[in-house]
Amino acid sequence: MLEIMQDRTESKYKTRWCAKITEEDIGKKVNIAGWVATVRDLGGIIFAEVRDRTGVIQIVADPEKNPEVHKILEQIRDEYVITASGTVTSRPGDTFNPGLKTGNIEIYPDAVEILNRAETPPFIIDAEQEISEDLRLKYRYLDIRRPKMMNNLVLRHNIVTAVRNYLNSREFIEVETPELIRTTPEGARDYLVPSRIYPGKFFALPQSPQIFKQLLMVAGVERYYQIAKCFRDEAQRADRQPEFSQVDLEMSFVDSEDVIAITEGIILEAFKCANIELTPPFARLTYKEAMETYGSDRPDTRFSLKLLDVSDIMENSSFTAFADRVKQGGSVRALCVPGIAGYSRKEMDDIRDLAVSFGAKGLAWITYGLDGSVKSPVLKFLTEREIGQIRQRANANPGDVVFFVADKNSVVFDVLGRLRLHFGEKLGLIDNSKHHLLWVVDFPMFEPEEEENRLAAVHHPFTSPNPEDAGLLETDPLKCRALAYDIVYNGSEIGGGSIRIHSPELQKKVFNLLGLGEEEIREKFGFMVNAFKYGAPPHGGLALGLDRLVALIAGAGSIREVMAFPKSSQARCLMTEAPAEASGEQLEELHLRIIAPKKK
Ligand code: AMO
Ligand code: AMP
Repeated sequence: MLEIMQDRTESKYKTRWCAKITEEDIGKKVNIAGWVATVRDLGGIIFAEVRDRTGVIQIVADPEKNPEVHKILEQIRDEYVITASGTVTSRPGDTFNPGLKTGNIEIYPDAVEILNRAETPPFIIDAEQEISEDLRLKYRYLDIRRPKMMNNLVLRHNIVTAVRNYLNSREFIEVETPELIRTTPEGARDYLVPSRIYPGKFFALPQSPQIFKQLLMVAGVERYYQIAKCFRDEAQRADRQPEFSQVDLEMSFVDSEDVIAITEGIILEAFKCANIELTPPFARLTYKEAMETYGSDRPDTRFSLKLLDVSDIMENSSFTAFADRVKQGGSVRALCVPGIAGYSRKEMDDIRDLAVSFGAKGLAWITYGLDGSVKSPVLKFLTEREIGQIRQRANANPGDVVFFVADKNSVVFDVLGRLRLHFGEKLGLIDNSKHHLLWVVDFPMFEPEEEENRLAAVHHPFTSPNPEDAGLLETDPLKCRALAYDIVYNGSEIGGGSIRIHSPELQKKVFNLLGLGEEEIREKFGFMVNAFKYGAPPHGGLALGLDRLVALIAGAGSIREVMAFPKSSQARCLMTEAPAEASGEQLEELHLRIIAPKKK
C-alpha cells in the first residue's frame, strides 16, 4: 500500500490508516475513521473492527471504564461509518489475532462518533464466501470495500505508477488523444456516437489511439505514451471488455529492437510491483514456429506437448480424408498425448466433439496400448508402415494417444492448439509457478479474408513489411513478413505493436493490397496520407493491454477483477443499467429513429 496520508494530529476524523498502526504506536493518541467490519458484544464489553482502505483495527468499549463510548458502540452495525479517537494499547497475550496485521494491538477510544448509518448490505463484505459476479457488479461500490478488490486496485495503481515513472525517466511524454474520432482500423466493430450538430453523422470511439500516436510522430513528439481508453464492440471473453485500457507508446527513429527493449523494461517494472523478478531478454519465437509448434500465436510454453507435422507420411496414404487435404495445400498434424490410452470410448468421443466444436471436420487418433496393442478408428485406412512412421515421429510410448487433424493449416493449428491447452490443463501439465514471457515476431503482413476474396491486415494497415520481403508484396503478398511483434505471458497476448510504414508510396501500395481504392483511401485515411507527405520520421510502437497485464500479475481469473467498474460478461453495466433507452426527445435531437431488430 502506498503511504499517502500524512499523520496530522489535529484532524477531526482521521489521523492514521487503520491497518498501518503498529506496536510502535502503543501509547500514542490516534484518530481513525472507516466502516464497521464486525461488532461483537461479549458480556458487556463490545469489540468492533473498523475497516478502511488498508485493513482493520480493533476498538474496544468497556461499560465500566467508558460508559459513553460503550453506549455509542451499542448502536453500531456492520458498515456504519464511524470515527474514533483514543490511545493505542497492546492486546493481552491471550487475545492476539495472528490473522490480522494489527492483531496484537487495539484502541480503547475516548470518543466515538457515528458519521453515517448503513443498511444491511446484500452480502457480507469481509466474508470469504463466494458471491455471484452479477451481485458483485450490481453493488460494485460494496464489492470494492472487500480487501481482495481493494488490493487489486492498489496493485493496478502501483503498476501504472511504475510504468509512468519508467517511461517518464526515458523521456517519453504523456499526451492525451481524443475519444470522439473517425474510425480506427483495429479490426473490431466501432462504438458510434451520433452527432446532434451534423445530422446523420457519427463519431467513433477509438479502438486505440493508433492514428493519433502516429500523427504525433509526424508532429515531432518522438517519444509518446498514454494510459489510453480503447473501445471495441466485439465478442466478449474473460480477457476482453468493450472498454479497456492500454499502455500505449510510440517512438520515432527506432527499429523493432528499440521498442522491444523499452517494453521489456516496462514489463519488468510492472512485475516488480508484485515482487516478481523477471530476467530479460525474453524468449522469441517466429510466428511460423509458434503456429507449427504450439498451434497458436500466443503459445503457452509452460508445458511441452508440441504439434507434429505428419503431412509427408499421409500425403500418399489411401485415407483420402488425409491425403487430399495435403494435396489441396493443407496439412495433417498430430498431437501425442501421454498416458491416456486407457480412456474409454465415451471419453474419446467427447474429445472428438471438443475438436469439432473448435472447428475440426473430424478427429482421428491412434491409441498405443500399454499391452503393445494399436487401436484406431481409422486403422483400416492406414498401413503398418504409416502407423510405425507415426509412432516414430511422435516418439509415442505405450500408453500414449496420437491425435490427428487434417484440414487447411489455419484450422489444423487452431484445433490442435486448443486441444493442446485442453490437455495441458486436464493432465496438470502446466506449472503455475512459472512466468513465461516471450515475443512472437515475424508475423505475416496479410491473411486471406475468406468471404471477400481479398487480403486483410494481420496487425493493422500501417504496419511495415519486413524490408527483406519487400519484393514479395508484388509477387506473393501472403508470404510477406511484417515488422510486427506481440508479447505473450503464459499463453495470453498482453501486447502488440509494429514498426510503421513512413513512406507514402509504400503505404499506398499496402492500402491497395488490402483492396482499398483511391477514393476509399482518400475518404478513410486522407488526413493520414496527407500528413505523411510532410516528413514522417521512421517510427514504431506498441500497446500493452493494461487490464490483462494487471489481471495476470494479480493472478486474477478475469480482467473484470482489476477494473473498478467493468461491464458484465454480457457487455452491460449492471450497476447503472447501461446501455439504457434514450428519450424520444434525445433521439429526435440526434436525428435517430429506432428500428426494432427482426425476430429470428
Ligand atoms: P492490439 O489491438 O493488439 O494493438 O491491442 C493491444 C493490446 O490490448 C489488449 N486488448 C484488450 N484488452 C481488453 N479487452 C479488449 N477488448 C482488448 N483488445 C485488445 C491486448 C492487446 O495485446 N494500436 C495497436 C498497438 C500498436 O500497434 O502500437 C493495438 O491496439 O492485450
Ligand atoms: P469418415 O471417413 O468421415 O467417416 O471419418 C473417419 C474417421 O476419420 C473419423 O474418426 C473422423 O472423425 C476422422 N476424420 C475425418 N475427417 C477428418 C479430418 N479432417 N481430420 C481428422 N480426422 C478426420
